[in-house]
Order: sequence, then C-alpha cells, then structure tokens
Amino acid sequence: MTNELTLNNGVTLPPIGLGVYQSPPEETSAAVEAALKVGYRHIDTAAAYGNERQVGEGIRNSGVDRDEVFLETKIWVSDYGYDETLHAFDKATRKLGFDTVDLLILHQPAPDRFDQTVGAYNALERLLADGKVRAIGVSNFMRHHLDNLLARTEIVPAVNQIECHPYFSQPDVQAVNAEHGILTQAWSPIGGITFYPGWGEHRTNVLEDDTVTSIAGATGKSPAQVLLRWQLQHGRSAIPKSTNPGRIAQNFDVFDFELTDQQMTALDGLDTGERNGPDPDGPMRKDIAERTIPED
Ligand code: A2P
Repeated sequence: MTNELTLNNGVTLPPIGLGVYQSPPEETSAAVEAALKVGYRHIDTAAAYGNERQVGEGIRNSGVDRDEVFLETKIWVSDYGYDETLHAFDKATRKLGFDTVDLLILHQPAPDRFDQTVGAYNALERLLADGKVRAIGVSNFMRHHLDNLLARTEIVPAVNQIECHPYFSQPDVQAVNAEHGILTQAWSPIGGITFYPGWGEHRTNVLEDDTVTSIAGATGKSPAQVLLRWQLQHGRSAIPKSTNPGRIAQNFDVFDFELTDQQMTALDGLDTGERNGPDPDGPMRKDIAERTIPED
C-alpha cells in the first residue's frame, strides 16, 4: 500500500489499521481476516480488549505473512512497573502467538502513580533495545503527561494514540506530539465514541453531522470515509473499528479521493473541545483500573 507513515525511528506503518476495541472475541478473528483480505496490513489491539488471542488467530488464518502485518498492542495499567510490564509483554506475545510486536504502547497514563508509568515505559525501552518490539509509544497522554515522561526517560515515544474525531480533535495534544516528532494516532477516528451505547446520553453522532453528510454527498463517499480521509490528509494514523465485512472494506477504500482545503477546514471547525471518552486525569473505576490481565 502507498502512503505509509514513517515513525521517528524510521519504522513505517500503514496509516489505516483495523481497530478491535469492543470487538467480541468470537467475532475478532473473522474481522481481522476480512481486513487482511481487502488489503489492511495494520491491526491495533490491547491487552485490555481481551481479544489478542483472536487477533493472532485471524492473522494466521488469513494466510498473510506475519512480517507483512504491522501489529500493535497496549499494556494495561494494572501491569505497570518495570518487571510487571516485561511480564505483560510475555503474556501478550503468548496470546498473540508471535514473538514480536511492531508497536507496543502504554494504554493510559496512570497519573496517581506516575513512577510505575515511567517504570512501564522503561520496560518498553528495554524491549525495543532487545529487538522484541520495533517501536514504542503511549496512548491518552496529554501535554503534561508527555512532559513528565520525556523528562524521565530516554526514548521519545513514536506514537501517541488519542481520542480524535471532528467533535474532539485535541489540537493542543496534536501540537505537542508534533513538537516531539510523535505520530498522532486517532482512536475512534470515525467518532464511534459519539454513538457507542453506554457512553452517556444526549450525544450527537458525528457521522450524522450536517457538515459531514454534505461533504459525503459532494464526494460520493460515506461519512465514515470522509472522516478517515480527513485523518489521512492531516497525516494521522487511524484505526477504525468494525466487525462488519462490508464496513471493514469501506473503511479501507479511502485512497481514491481528496478533500478540498475548504472541506478540511469545515471538518476542523467542528471541534467542540469536549471529550467523549474517559478523562486521562480523571479517577478510573477501580474495577477497571485493577482488572487482572490473564496469563494466557
Ligand atoms: P460495526 O463494528 O458494527 O461496523 P470508531 O472506530 O470510530 O470507534 O467507530 C466504530 C463504530 O463505528 C462501531 O460501532 C462500528 O460498528 C461503526 N462503524 C465502523 N465502520 C463504519 C462505517 N463505515 N459506517 C458506519 N459505522 C461504522
């Protein structure tokens, strides 16, 4: 695929990856296979999603060579600390069924125990030095978390994966990422978090926004494709989640059209400054924060 993005350590990745947050384990393997079949070569999972095993299965079932796939996973906060994170990597690779991971990131900052967050990141640095992972990074880190991390560690993260869709695009975090050469990777890139059930009432589905639907009409593409194209033209990586083969294919069919400057500006202008997902500095529910990631 063309248009690969280059990380700050020279490693390249396909900008569009399949996301599997909230993909039920029993549907994940087929979704991964469907994605690889239509050309995806990047899959993003996480220990906390409970479907790493099925991601590995999907890759193997697809017949696509492991080396052709950019595989990304995340360490959950209950595994932070140097030794704990090294062990968490072993758990992840055991479930995935592969020895290496292309991009390993910390799922969240743990602001109330930042020493352990730093310890976890030091473990990622170790894994990188040992050639177990090809790149390391973070997720949901705001400017002050990054400042704190950078002051206490050696290797600048390659990626910061953050909530990013037109209703909440976090220009401030994108700016600090850019200052350090960190690639911004968008989670909920088509705004799933604006319509997922159970994430709060009275939200507006960004896929139904008038600006988005009118650009979709003008380009002959779907609202989701318009948002993914907006992500790409901004130079971001995006990991749309779907378990539906038609939508998986649709979300990858975004390389044959271009948004005008005016359309880009109109989409940029939809930012409300209001987060839809969890606040990285907010208290995390104890049962979620302390959830044990199984051994295998
Ligand atoms: P499904 O898995 O049934 O396709 P995000 O990655 O931004 O969080 O969005 C994921 C959500 O968007 C899921 O609910 C997914 O449902 C849905 N979705 C994925 N692709 C599309 C698409 N092309 N059009 C509309 N909804 C989509």
